Amino acid sequence: MRAVNLEVNGIVHEVFVEDRTSLADALREECGLTGTRLGCEHGVCGACTVLINNRPERSCLVLATQTEGDAIGTIEGLAKSPTVLAPIQRAFREAHGLQCGFCTSGMLLTAQSLLEHDPDPSPETIRDWMHGNLCRCTGFDQIVESVQLAASMIKQDQEREE
Ligand code: FES
Ligand code: FES
Repeated sequence: MRAVNLEVNGIVHEVFVEDRTSLADALREECGLTGTRLGCEHGVCGACTVLINNRPERSCLVLATQTEGDAIGTIEGLAKSPTVLAPIQRAFREAHGLQCGFCTSGMLLTAQSLLEHDPDPSPETIRDWMHGNLCRCTGFDQIVESVQLAASMIKQDQEREE
């Protein structure tokens, strides 16, 4: 076991992990951030997606020790406060893109990252970014619509602030 400092959602957590401990396990078991979900644990489903330096990554495939010094973002850091949802969360709710507790957090973080890289993505770009987040229960059209709605919500918020 060794001590590693993980910066998660802007807060540094000193955790004690083994060299083989995945980032997903460290987040859930050492940091108490259980919004990061494990589905396949083999890098296939995308449920465990978190942001590492603003890029979506599969936390089941990343070792916790590899992420010291990185900025990690989890679903717990997406909303500004417990009562003010992020636009991507509002959009998923309004456009019926919401999924189960296993796949939702990864979907939202991937979509959030997409909108930071491309504020006005085409449906093809959305499908391309989201294709690694799998759901066996529903259609994906509402997810594409949710990301488009979030893009327009963010644009409206920015126009209001100008
Ligand atoms: S749990 Fe990591 S990709 Fe499925
Ligand atoms: S896997 Fe989450 S709704 Fe299907």
